[in-house]
Amino acid sequence: MRRYARIIGTGSYLPPRRLTNNDLAAELAQRGIETSDEWIVERTGIRARHFAAPDVTSSDLALQACRQAIEAAGVSAQDIDLIIVATSTPDMVFPSTAAILQHKLGIANGCPAFDVQAVCSGFVYALSVADAMIQTGAAKRALVVGAEVFSRILDFNDRTTCVLFGDGAGAVVLEASEAPGILAAELHADGSHVGILCVPGHVSGGNVLGDPLLKMDGQAVFKLAVGVLDKAARATLDKAGLTEADIDWLIPHQANIRIMQSTARKLKLSMDKVVVTVDQHGNTSAASIPLALDHGVRSGQVKPGQTVLLEGVGGGFTWGAVLFKM
Ligand SMILES: CC(C)(COP(=O)(O)OP(=O)(O)OC[C@H]1O[C@@H](n2cnc3c(N)ncnc32)[C@H](O)[C@@H]1OP(=O)(O)O)[C@@H](O)C(=O)NCCC(=O)NCCS
Repeated sequence: MRRYARIIGTGSYLPPRRLTNNDLAAELAQRGIETSDEWIVERTGIRARHFAAPDVTSSDLALQACRQAIEAAGVSAQDIDLIIVATSTPDMVFPSTAAILQHKLGIANGCPAFDVQAVCSGFVYALSVADAMIQTGAAKRALVVGAEVFSRILDFNDRTTCVLFGDGAGAVVLEASEAPGILAAELHADGSHVGILCVPGHVSGGNVLGDPLLKMDGQAVFKLAVGVLDKAARATLDKAGLTEADIDWLIPHQANIRIMQSTARKLKLSMDKVVVTVDQHGNTSAASIPLALDHGVRSGQVKPGQTVLLEGVGGGFTWGAVLFKM
């Protein structure tokens, strides 16, 4: 009998400071940077995002999301035997945000905890790794988290990027099960595109060398994203022996409503089958998919037994998809 990994609880957290496009435009105007609600909504679908306070870290956001997910799963934190955090904005260079989170959750059972770095595909990567570990019997009950304080790496003098991103965290509890959970996954990377979306700086000899702020060629990212997401979706469905007609919900990475609409169109899915949170959250990188999933579950859209396709795409270039029964 196949051993599946099933999602048994979801949770999410957004820091309280919410900025509408007009709020952000007013702040940017003080720096002499011009933008507008109209431009941002038309090009991206984003209307608001949340920014964490300066002393709040990714593990702080993750902690709140995980507490919710653990409560929703009806398990005890001590029963978690694997923690994977997807983040590009870790608390420290090391140790991992996952190890810090383990301690904050009070989990003292010695379970493995590590970070996955695949930028906006991070949650899909982390979920796929946890699924593999559950299938092999290496873990029984995993906490898989996406958490970001992307506001820390934004260049607020660059209007082409700083209006796009936000902070937040989302989490799921995965449990080994005989009943179908995760059906198939696909992960990919193409490092030849490192330069189109990156934070090129690094720490060396006590200094930051290179630019520690986000750089993006928006149009190149847009074109690549649309192509790879469609291929990854089809390959994942093929692996599970399903077609696009079997999808109840598509939960794509929430980067830009136009990329999401294009992906849905290619899969012949109406936007009624797509969970959309980009308007309220902006692009929260690795946190965007679990935030949207938790929103879908808590709003009653995503129901037990339904078939859900998650899709991630981001810096690296990385992309992937995970198909599961809720
Ligand atoms: C970033 C993105 C929204 C830009 O939209 P676009 O239609 O490609 O816009 P362009 O970059 O061609 O810029 C068009 C104009 O808007 C201006 N502009 C850029 N940002 C602006 C802003 N925030 N406010 C107002 N004007 C802006 C540009 O300066 C340019 O002006 P110009 O024509 O006078 O030179 C779009 O490329 C995109 O969404 N890319 C994908 C990004 C993404 O999803 N990244 C994360 C993936 S994980």
